[in-house]
Amino acid sequence: MGIVDMNYLSLASIILTFCAAYTISLVIYRLVLSPLANFPGPKLAAATTWYETFYDVFLNGRFLWEIERMHQEYGPVVRINPHEIHIHDVKYYTTIYAGPTKKRSKYPWFLSVGVPHSTFSTAEYHGHRTRRAALAPLLTKQAVRGYEPVIQEKLSYLCRHLDQAICSDAVVELHMCFLSFAVDVVSHIVFGSFMCFDLLKSQSLDSRWKAGIKGPFARFLLTRHFPFAMTLYRFSPLWLSGLVDPVCKDGAFIENVSGPLNLDVYLEAPTPEIEKRFTRFFHDCESEVNDRPSNTGILRDLLENSAGIPERQRRLRALDDVKFLMIAGTDAPSQVLAITVFHILRNDSCCHKLQKELDDALPNPYYNPPLKMLEALPFLSAIIREGLRISSVVTSRLPRIAPTEVLTYEGWSIPPGIPVSMSTYLIHNDPVIFPEPSKFQPERWMPDSNGACLYNGPMPFSKGSQACLGPSMTYCWCYLALATMFRRYDMILFETSEENVKTMRDCFNAQTKPGYDRIQIKVLGRRK
Ligand code: HEM
Ligand SMILES: *[C@@H]1O[C@H](CO)[C@@H](O)[C@H](O)[C@H]1NC(C)=O
Ligand SMILES: *[C@@H]1O[C@H](CO)[C@@H](O)[C@H](O)[C@H]1NC(C)=O
Repeated sequence: MGIVDMNYLSLASIILTFCAAYTISLVIYRLVLSPLANFPGPKLAAATTWYETFYDVFLNGRFLWEIERMHQEYGPVVRINPHEIHIHDVKYYTTIYAGPTKKRSKYPWFLSVGVPHSTFSTAEYHGHRTRRAALAPLLTKQAVRGYEPVIQEKLSYLCRHLDQAICSDAVVELHMCFLSFAVDVVSHIVFGSFMCFDLLKSQSLDSRWKAGIKGPFARFLLTRHFPFAMTLYRFSPLWLSGLVDPVCKDGAFIENVSGPLNLDVYLEAPTPEIEKRFTRFFHDCESEVNDRPSNTGILRDLLENSAGIPERQRRLRALDDVKFLMIAGTDAPSQVLAITVFHILRNDSCCHKLQKELDDALPNPYYNPPLKMLEALPFLSAIIREGLRISSVVTSRLPRIAPTEVLTYEGWSIPPGIPVSMSTYLIHNDPVIFPEPSKFQPERWMPDSNGACLYNGPMPFSKGSQACLGPSMTYCWCYLALATMFRRYDMILFETSEENVKTMRDCFNAQTKPGYDRIQIKVLGRRK
């Protein structure tokens, strides 16, 4: 044995000793000295982030249900990992998700969803407020009322597919149908009518969008825990990353993950669909002669609302906001719609009750009902609320940080700066709040029901200063789409059961068992 070997051995043992000492002191710190040391929860989860990684990455999005189990064992407040507290108590919701009187920031670790420059991904309270102020006026209830004709128009194209399905006896997949509808509405509103994707105008619907949106969501499970995976994807050619992770191929249609990191190139040579339109939009703006009819999209307003910052930054921000709208703002409502239709069609008496209400309100099935009139229908309204509850399509917990305030909860004091979260999925499925939570029961929300509610409404959109900006848009789509479909058509489910809607994975959004994501119907005929 030579001297060199000895040296290597001792070097290795020094490194090992150092690593072991570091790990041991980190674990001691987390279990004994950390300000969260006394909070209830599994010691292993408090000691290492691998606990969560195991459930999310190796068991494929199951940490949410482990959180549910922790609450059953440890009570309403739990330390779910070394850094974070999770609370399950609906009464405390508006304290965490507070309005503008309280400062709340988001937790950056949770925002790595591929749109770093978006309003959604702006973590810090003040920065976020400025960004949100530019976007919010474009999505208010009043703004949505202005988009009603566009939404009606897209809905009429959707109906063409349903009419076609009557003649051809074809199977209609609802998630894809509603996603195409949502993509058409949002792209029309964002970019203006000339640059609408017009997915519904083609003869057969394009499934690439569904795969392209679901895929990147499923990937968050991995990239949140291993951020370098994202960098690896970027530097490897698509055929290689696609081999390792088939999701990359699906997502590439919408977002070029293997594209260049250089942001100037990113803006100038976009290939995937959203980026292409974005560039064309600027090209059109710049080459526009003064008196040509101006582009009507809200992208223009968004840019105007954020005047005063450097142009390149302004474009990057707008691009990421637009991507967020085109992806998050289309996926969630289309899933909600498809799942709601599934539940209505599964229960004849529910379906008949809805159709009776619609028949009375709309004697002529081909009259486009105005939103205002539909909002007054109690059973339809209850159906939409119950659909939002039972689908709970944003499954992710949403951590908030109170930067300066100590949050107190039942004798516990959570120090400033600690991420605290709740999961609306767990609230919506809590049998204490909603007896028999897996049953679709619109009656829960009827004005005369006494169960209606320990709180005032489902909270799929979260609450407070960082809540979703899309509720008015979502409600509008749900009212118009459900009323139109159920007034005009007799439909039945086709080879679709509970498994095809049941949430089995928390990938930020709700996902079924792999391969089960389809909700299929047949359209039997038109109603009179
Ligand atoms: C069923 C439909 C929808 C659900 C369940 C939903 C849910 C959510 C949730 C949970 C958030 C995160 C809020 C937080 O961090 O506390 C969010 C953010 C957001 N959503 Fe939605 N959303 C839906 C539809 C839409 C639509 C249709 C749009 C617009 C077209 C939209 C635009 C936004 C925007 C802009 C944000 C970021 C808000 C901010 O960071 O200030 N959403 N949404
Ligand atoms: C992604 O970007 C790279 C580099 O610009 C380009 O070569 C590639 O074709 C793009 N991929 C897609 C799917 O557009
Ligand atoms: C079917 O729908 C009716 C009317 O909404 C409701 O009262 C009933 O509980 C539902 N049945 C099941 C099994 O969900």
